[in-house]
Amino acid sequence: ILNTIYSPQLMKYLASILLSVGFLPLSAQEIVINTNNTALVLRVDKDKRVYQTHLGKRLMHENEYALLPQMGEVCISNGNGNYFEPAFHFTNSKGNETVILKYVSHQVKKSDGNSTETVVLLTDSVRQNSVRLFYKAYPKENVIVTHSEIINNDKKPIALKKYASSMLHFRAQDYYLTQFNGDWAAEASITESKLGFGKKMIDSNLGTRANMFASPFFLLSLDKQADENNGQAILGTLGWTGNFRFTFEKDHENKLRVISGINPFNSEYQLKAGETFVTPEFIFTYSDEGTGKASRNLHNWARKYRVKDGEGDRLTLLNNWEATFFDFNEKKIVDLISEAKSLGLDMFLLDDGWFGNKHPRNDDKAGLGDWQPNKKKLPNGIKALTDAAKQQGVKFGLWIEPEMINPKSELMEKHPNWVVAWNDRERYYFRNQLVLDLSNPEVQNYVYDIVDGLLTTCPDIAYFKWDCNSPLTNIYSNYEKEHQSHLFVDYVKGLYKVLDRLKAKYPKIPMMLCSGGGGRTDYEALRYFTEFWASDNTDPIDRLYIQWGFSHIFPAKTICAHVTEWNRKVDLKFKVDVAMMGKMGFDLNFSTLPKADADFCKNAVKAYNGFKDIIFKGDLYRLVSPYSNTHTATMYVDEAQKRAVVFAFDIFPRYSTAESTRLKLQGLQANKMYKVKEINRYDGKDIEVGTFSGDYLMTVGMKAFSEHRLQSRI
Ligand code: GLA
Repeated sequence: ILNTIYSPQLMKYLASILLSVGFLPLSAQEIVINTNNTALVLRVDKDKRVYQTHLGKRLMHENEYALLPQMGEVCISNGNGNYFEPAFHFTNSKGNETVILKYVSHQVKKSDGNSTETVVLLTDSVRQNSVRLFYKAYPKENVIVTHSEIINNDKKPIALKKYASSMLHFRAQDYYLTQFNGDWAAEASITESKLGFGKKMIDSNLGTRANMFASPFFLLSLDKQADENNGQAILGTLGWTGNFRFTFEKDHENKLRVISGINPFNSEYQLKAGETFVTPEFIFTYSDEGTGKASRNLHNWARKYRVKDGEGDRLTLLNNWEATFFDFNEKKIVDLISEAKSLGLDMFLLDDGWFGNKHPRNDDKAGLGDWQPNKKKLPNGIKALTDAAKQQGVKFGLWIEPEMINPKSELMEKHPNWVVAWNDRERYYFRNQLVLDLSNPEVQNYVYDIVDGLLTTCPDIAYFKWDCNSPLTNIYSNYEKEHQSHLFVDYVKGLYKVLDRLKAKYPKIPMMLCSGGGGRTDYEALRYFTEFWASDNTDPIDRLYIQWGFSHIFPAKTICAHVTEWNRKVDLKFKVDVAMMGKMGFDLNFSTLPKADADFCKNAVKAYNGFKDIIFKGDLYRLVSPYSNTHTATMYVDEAQKRAVVFAFDIFPRYSTAESTRLKLQGLQANKMYKVKEINRYDGKDIEVGTFSGDYLMTVGMKAFSEHRLQSRI
């Protein structure tokens, strides 16, 4: 009935009735942050406090936002009648711990691409501290990027004890949280749990290799468990290459508050008079069509607006790490460069072990910090290698770990105070190394000069793999003597200063972000990096799980996946098929492979070059989860919905599961006909399967699985 008699006048009338019975505050004002499908609605109450009233599906009639019941205060601060975790907690010079933030003004302006930025200014009139809340809404991608700024207008410094980027409120029957945690070689493994009363935190205090155990992203499903195609899903992630914290708190009224930001652990920050503290961005998307849609939203946004060269191509490569480890010389590398060429790959990547003379890098115990080519292994330097690559017509990439130092290095002899480490007690070493103190501008210059120096002497270096193997240990800054609790934050800011300078001078150079595998994976770092190394674990079975986990947040072109010798029991074809789902590379010694295997790889590179545009630019559909443990399947569909690539893997199938698990495709046009071919077969012969309508393939599906263990099909 409402539908037929709907009119704005009627809504106004209804609103006035609600007002008169006290449901709505007098002179309340709505601030609506819209994407095409999502709305985040804030309300300025009559007492000038700002509340969230909605986060979810965009309503058809904007004036009905005035009818929404009030949820929690937008960014709850300390000591003002809130009995739960605050987003902000600042202490002033008199020891006053209370902050009450009230609305001053807000502005809406156009921002990058089609986005709109809403900025809300709040101030504590007694304490002279202000906060600006930023919300950038990307309409088509349905992504909202939010952060806060804390401004100290006082005459004295204030201490920031908690300084979140975002606080969001949810009202649902139940809340299911999916987290992506793990360890070295077990990154981004998925667990889902129902949230009960109280707090659940996902955080890191590892500093540099921040995501070794927990990833800086989460999936929240409202009312029921997460599902790829149905239900309300929120994917959220913090763009911060350091300590992060997500706090999920379910209160006595079954409402959920989610606070995201830098982990305040051991990070109280002094903000001087007149200074502003800018928090990192919290990026999120809401979907009412399940998790799959939420992931596609983030992928679209990331490629268009965030990742370095997000819309560009990516280089296939041959890496020598597993083929040689530290044991190589110029000849071996030049041979590998020729192998890269004969395989049809775009690039050769020289890994760890190429530097250090007084303390040669022949294992992981020495040499980090001394970035001069080792004269024994490479008598003619890197230049000879870039020349060899140039001659072969392949590009040349180089591994570096410029934030780190081995105590056994010339750098340590010269600058013992550049390390993060105390001097008055026993030190703890992670992988025999220490972290350089990037809060120190001198160290920032040194790190910048490593990369700049390499590119100046060898301008043909076309790519870097930037590693970071150690978390921050022995937490003591010889630079920030007075404010030790600034170290975690200022380290990351120092890192960004270096990366900013490098990006300004070398805007085009692709770089892989690596951290002992996938220990650094966040959307601020990906402004500077074109891709990341997802895991040192390249066992293809484990990779199915690891890549599945990362695919929730990151587009396939950013996820490096290499074919290696890990798990010799699995066929080479299975390994290649797994790597093809991401940014493919090889880390094998081809000279030791049987000819048939080498030929298969050569054909695979050709096949990949033929469809990689679909992987890199297309929409991802996660069809069957590897967590079923029997089979898994993933597909990518190009924007025009004309071409698609489907990957199907039999993991440990049970008897007769192959037939009962017909694979239903997604993302096709129902009324179009599709020709189906099986490609990348070991025998090199593509097989024509038949021609089917999109409707048939999505409704009935096709036979893509087998009953045999560890088989795969594309
Ligand atoms: C880390 C990386 C590996 C490799 C080694 C080299 O573990 O994740 O890929 O580069 O360092 O030491």
